Amino acid sequence: MFGLDGRVAIVTGASSGLGTAVAQALASAGARVAVVARRRDRLIEIAERIDGVPIACDLSDLDRVGDIVSEVAETLGPPEIVVNAAGSMFTEERAESEPVDAIRHTMELNLMAPFLLAQNVFPHMRAIGRGSIVNISSISGRVGIPGIPQASYAASKAGLSGLTAELAVQWARHSIRVNTVAPGFFRSEITSPLYESERAAEYLRRNTPLPMQGSADDIVGAVVWLAGDAAAYVTGQTIVVDGGWTAR
Ligand SMILES: NC(=O)c1ccc[n+]([C@@H]2O[C@H](COP(=O)([O-])OP(=O)(O)OC[C@H]3O[C@@H](n4cnc5c(N)ncnc54)[C@H](OP(=O)(O)O)[C@@H]3O)[C@@H](O)[C@H]2O)c1
Repeated sequence: MFGLDGRVAIVTGASSGLGTAVAQALASAGARVAVVARRRDRLIEIAERIDGVPIACDLSDLDRVGDIVSEVAETLGPPEIVVNAAGSMFTEERAESEPVDAIRHTMELNLMAPFLLAQNVFPHMRAIGRGSIVNISSISGRVGIPGIPQASYAASKAGLSGLTAELAVQWARHSIRVNTVAPGFFRSEITSPLYESERAAEYLRRNTPLPMQGSADDIVGAVVWLAGDAAAYVTGQTIVVDGGWTAR
């Protein structure tokens, strides 16, 4: 049910954090994985570990997104799983002061690149007769996060959920499923300053009902489930994995 033997997967943001954990988990389930991000050295090391293919690329360069899919199709075969884990914040300003360049950059990396990647894998998935796209958003696409300003990031992540529902209904007839996983806070390069500040760590503890600190490994299960046949009847959904943050 959770096996992915022989399936070709693309994982963006695979040079660290959740993307690395997802790439490893998909490979353990039998998938052949192309790992995508900017830091080539890290990708080479990860690809060696999982017998995958490294593709160094800046996803903000939207004209290059199609090349990734062509390279994967040539080296591994047609992709039928895509996990869009690359994402970032480009400003810590409050909403009224966010620079337009930061807003644009956020939308390009977090929302437009996943959309273009989906467009480019679509013909392959349609030809195979199935596919699974899993976007990684955030609880901030669903609720405001007091004290940590992130308006454009939140908008980009909420946009992924809208995109997910629309692609799901347009492509369901081809058995292409599109879902989103919305993590709560977990420790990674992006969030390590939070966990290292006692005040911020206490804020996270206070707002997370489950008595644990999230890690990438706590998010991966939902992604692997959505990628494969165990979730064959699930599409268009945003699955929140947040230790209970949004349940309060
Ligand atoms: N950590 C959390 O608490 C949390 C909570 C909710 C949602 N998320 C989301 O989870 C996803 C993974 O984040 P993470 O916490 O694992 O952070 P992370 O360790 O910083 O990973 C981000 C990944 O995105 C890649 N990336 C960034 N900019 C890129 C670009 N322009 N082109 C290509 N790749 C790029 C980075 O690789 P390179 O630097 O090598 O390019 C890295 O592999 C993100 O979408 C994030 O928004 C995280």
